[in-house]
Amino acid sequence: MAREATAESTVSHDAAAPSSGPRRAATVMVQAWPPGSRQSADDVTRHAFRPGRAAGTRRRAAVHPRVRRDQERPRIRSAALLEVAMSLKTKTAVVTGSTSGIGLAIARAFAAEGANVVINGFGKADDIEAARSAIEAEYGVRAHYSNADMSKPAEIETMINEADKAFGSVDVLVNNAGIQFVSAIEEFPAEKWEQIVAINLSSAFYAMKAVIPGMKARGWGRIINTASAHSLVASPFKSAYVAAKHGIAGLTKTAALELATHKITVNCISPGYVWTPLVEAQIPDTMRVRGLTKEQVINDVMLKGQPTKEFVTVDQVAALAVFLCSDGASQMTGANLSMDGGWTAQ
Ligand SMILES: NC(=O)c1ccc[n+]([C@@H]2O[C@H](COP(=O)([O-])OP(=O)(O)OC[C@H]3O[C@@H](n4cnc5c(N)ncnc54)[C@H](O)[C@@H]3O)[C@@H](O)[C@H]2O)c1
Repeated sequence: MAREATAESTVSHDAAAPSSGPRRAATVMVQAWPPGSRQSADDVTRHAFRPGRAAGTRRRAAVHPRVRRDQERPRIRSAALLEVAMSLKTKTAVVTGSTSGIGLAIARAFAAEGANVVINGFGKADDIEAARSAIEAEYGVRAHYSNADMSKPAEIETMINEADKAFGSVDVLVNNAGIQFVSAIEEFPAEKWEQIVAINLSSAFYAMKAVIPGMKARGWGRIINTASAHSLVASPFKSAYVAAKHGIAGLTKTAALELATHKITVNCISPGYVWTPLVEAQIPDTMRVRGLTKEQVINDVMLKGQPTKEFVTVDQVAALAVFLCSDGASQMTGANLSMDGGWTAQ
């Protein structure tokens, strides 16, 4: 009931203020251009958002002489949004579990916004080096690789210390490393339980412990935990994963409250099924446990509960992570943000 009430109040707030935020900017910009003009509203929006252009320069040249002063205001808003997008320049982000899948997409998206990044995780050395050097070459930032094992607290601390030494700060931490194992509880290997809890949950605690003093000292920080729809609902045969993901949602809230007055936000993103190596790898086990074909696992298990009937993409998750680092998200903290094609709305 509490969640329903929150959702309703969000909707009615939107309905009461339909002109708030960027939507109003777009509407007014359409009005500001006189009918018959060859410059479309899209052109105006593109100019307003073009990176690297000094705020106001284009505005003066582009605004039609008949535009009224109050109609110009949304363009100033657009310039503010541009600053939001640029806010990762000069920052350093550590993304755990970023040699593939969601983590790699987040690291690349941060680099695209100008952040130096530390990538972490396992894989073939050549593939990891290719991913690391591509980030530097494509985005003109520095990218380091740490082979720290997220199940080992001492290695997590070393990774953060090395990042701090190399770049001078760790401003953004994304606790993303994760593994999965599918089995009935009575057959679930104890060591798999321990490993999943260590990598998917405890690693976030140790990484936070290591970055928080520096973030507090600098008075700015962003911590993002990759949770899951399984932080809100359960599925059978995923006991350790579901327990760890519910745990990380709780850890997120606690950290958010502890850090609320330090300009450090802590949020988690909860994707539904995202097509990554982690998801692909659980298909054979699910086929075995449930006696299904690959197609049945994809359509009748994975996408069954995802009303859009589509996988989330890694780039969509990365875009939300970038937004959470922006000034626009500075009052968002302790949130568990679903991106699950409607899965947990049911
Ligand atoms: N793919 C999905 O559908 C989905 C949905 C919800 C949540 N998630 C979560 O997203 C996160 C990333 O998953 P993904 O789907 O991109 O999977 P992935 O397998 O592509 O990536 C997992 C990453 O974690 C790294 N990793 C694994 N064990 C590690 C360890 N001990 N130390 C350091 N790094 C380690 C891997 O090397 C890899 O870089 C996980 O936390 C996962 O639970 C995924």
